[in-house]
Amino acid sequence: MRIIGTGSSLPQQVVTNEDLSKIMDTSDEWISSRTGIKERHLAKEETTVSMSAEAAGRALRNAGIKAEDVDLIIVATITGDYITPSTACEVQAELGAEHAAAFDINAACSGFMFALHTAYAYLQTGIYKTALVVGAETLSKIMDWSDRSTCVLFGDGAGAVVVRAGGEESNEEGNGGGLLAFEQGTDGSRGKVLACEGRKNQNPLVQNPFVPSYVDMDGQEVYKFAVSTVPASILRVLEMSGTAAEDIKYFVLHQANIRIIQSVAKRLKADIEKFPVSLDHCGNVSAASVPILLDEMNQKGMLARGDKIVMSGFGGGLTWASAVIEW
Ligand code: ACO
Repeated sequence: MRIIGTGSSLPQQVVTNEDLSKIMDTSDEWISSRTGIKERHLAKEETTVSMSAEAAGRALRNAGIKAEDVDLIIVATITGDYITPSTACEVQAELGAEHAAAFDINAACSGFMFALHTAYAYLQTGIYKTALVVGAETLSKIMDWSDRSTCVLFGDGAGAVVVRAGGEESNEEGNGGGLLAFEQGTDGSRGKVLACEGRKNQNPLVQNPFVPSYVDMDGQEVYKFAVSTVPASILRVLEMSGTAAEDIKYFVLHQANIRIIQSVAKRLKADIEKFPVSLDHCGNVSAASVPILLDEMNQKGMLARGDKIVMSGFGGGLTWASAVIEW
C-alpha cells in the first residue's frame, strides 16, 4: 500500500495565544513554554464535513485520480457533525465518490493511524484498490472554554491521504515500498484520563437532564502515557521492518505537545531535526494532526521516493499506533 496523494484543510480563523490571553486568564508564555503551541485555527463557518471534503479533494488532485476511482473512504474523527450519517458518508456525497463504501473510526488522536491500518487490511486482501483516509476534527465545539488547562491546547482542521494497493510500481531496489510495518494498541483501563462523555440515557424509563459534555483531561497522566508508550511502539515497528532509527528520514508524530516530541526523540536517540512540527501553528488537532503534517511536508517537497518515515499517533482511549512507511 502506497500513499499517492495528500491534502489538508484548515479553518480561515487563526487564534493566537495573545488572542486567548484577552478572553481568559492565560498567557503566550504559559502556553508556548509548556506546549510549543503559538496559534491554532478555529472553525467559524467550517464543519468537520466541509474540512474533510476539502482535504480529501486536494488529496485526490495531488494523487491525480478521480473521485469515481475511490473504493473506500474512512474518516477518523471524534467530532462528526452528525451521529449519523457518518462524516465519511457525507464526504462521499460531497466528492461524488459514488463507488466508495464509507464509514468513520473513533480512536481519538490515534484515529488516522487506525484508519490507515484498516485501509491497509482492505487493500492487502484485495477487497479494494484505492482508499481515501481522512483525519478531521472540530475540537473547538467540545472544549470547555472556561477550562484554560484544556481549551488552549486544541485546534480544528482536516488532513487526508489517498492510498493505493501496490504491485504495479516498484522502487529502485525493485520492491513496492509502501507500508513496511505497523502496530497498534489500546489500554481501555486508563481511558478516562482523557474523556468526553456522550449523551446519557433518554427513554421512557429513564429521564436524565441534557447536559452538554466537554473534554476533560488529566494532562500529567496523558503525558506519562505518551512518553513511555510512543517510543516503545516506534521501536517495535522499527524492529518489525528491520529498519534502524538512523535510516528514518522523518518521525511524523501526533502533534500534542513539543515536550512529548522532544522526549520521544531523546528516548530514540534520534536527532530532533528529524521530527517535523505543525503544532506551533495548528495546536493539537487530534486525528487530523498526522495527515495535516504529512501534507505540509509533501507540499514543501520534503518527501522523496524511497524515503523511510515513521508515523505515530497516540491519545484518547487510551490508544496508540505506529507505522514505518517507505514513501
Ligand atoms: N494558562 C495559565 N495557567 C494555566 C493554564 C493556562 N492555559 N492552564 C493551567 N494553568 C495553571 C494551572 O491552574 C496550575 O496552576 P496552580 O499551580 O496555581 O494550580 C498550573 O498552571 C500548572 O498546571 P498543570 O496542569 O500542573 O500544568 P502542567 O505543567 O502539567 O502542564 C499540560 C499542563 C501542558 C497539559 C501538561 O500536563 C502536558 O503537557 N500534558 C500532556 C498532555 C497533552 O499534551 N494533552 C493534549 C491532548 S492529549 C493527546 O493529544 C494525546
